[in-house]
Amino acid sequence: MQLDLNFVRQHFSAFTGDTRVEGHFFDSAAGSFPCLGTVEGLDRFYRHHKVQPGNPFAVSELAASEMAYAKQRWAEALGVKENEVGFGPSTTQNIYVLANAFRETWSSGDEIIVTNQDHESNIGAMTRAAKAAGAEVKIWSVDPETGFLAKSDLEKLLNANTRLVCFPHSSNIVGQKNNAKEIIELIHNCGSLVLVDGVSYVPHEIPDIGDLGADIYVFSLYKVYSVHQGLLVMREAVVDSLPKQGHYFKDSIDVSERFIPAGPDHAQIAASAPVLEYIETLAAHHGGPVQDLRSACDFVSSLWRVHEIALVKPLWIFSNQRIMCA
Ligand SMILES: Cc1ncc(COP(=O)(O)O)c(C=O)c1O
Repeated sequence: MQLDLNFVRQHFSAFTGDTRVEGHFFDSAAGSFPCLGTVEGLDRFYRHHKVQPGNPFAVSELAASEMAYAKQRWAEALGVKENEVGFGPSTTQNIYVLANAFRETWSSGDEIIVTNQDHESNIGAMTRAAKAAGAEVKIWSVDPETGFLAKSDLEKLLNANTRLVCFPHSSNIVGQKNNAKEIIELIHNCGSLVLVDGVSYVPHEIPDIGDLGADIYVFSLYKVYSVHQGLLVMREAVVDSLPKQGHYFKDSIDVSERFIPAGPDHAQIAASAPVLEYIETLAAHHGGPVQDLRSACDFVSSLWRVHEIALVKPLWIFSNQRIMCA
């Protein structure tokens, strides 16, 4: 089924009104335009309930309930529990905090694996943390012929000393989708934890992280038509087992309390939910499932895929011809 682009455009101020973008717009170090719901959500929060949330008066309770709602909706979309979802200033910062937590648990003899298909946010933070702990860092390198990560190469690096493997759900250079479920299973069979960087993947498909089985999954909402926040999913067992990085008195088994030390931007957390309403609206408009958010995410991701393939196809044909001529 074709994505109804006119319908999509109605949901972005970037394509309507006086300040609309004409023609094509390629953003550098790509983010995405926020959908209207995101902008309106921020505006509503800042106008009407920009107070400390969770105190016993109406506006404060409303602020807290909007934030809780966003957490609940994202948990539903990603197939995980609410206490496994946290919002931090960016993916880089979320990983930085995690790397510090891991550092406290690693020591000489431990091994950490990162890939050279990863973003610096993963490679740098994890390498520095491993070095500080006296642990060894191994690189799962892409096949120089294909630019792809081969599972067989990872198999050679894994052993009983492996503590953490970080890899990207997709490459933002060659666009390869790594078979995350299979890779995670392999890593778990070795007894290691796994962190998946979904920053370049989630704009193309909202993943079922529960089904994938990742211990930790990170991505940036500002690339998914939403607010400038990093979303951090940590499964409950990992939240409980790693040394917490938040205030000492915050002790519930909740990723936000333990691994997002910053005081959050309440408005951005609350305004992260409307993009999911946009996805449901898209699903309904195209005759897709609306009974649950997860199915709507799957359906809309498939619409995005069809559209993206149509967009990219001429580029692939053109570049293949160039390669053959070279
Ligand atoms: C694959 C990947 N991982 C991580 C990041 C870092 O994300 P953030 O900008 O939220 O720190 C980026 C940023 O572009 C990225 O492309």
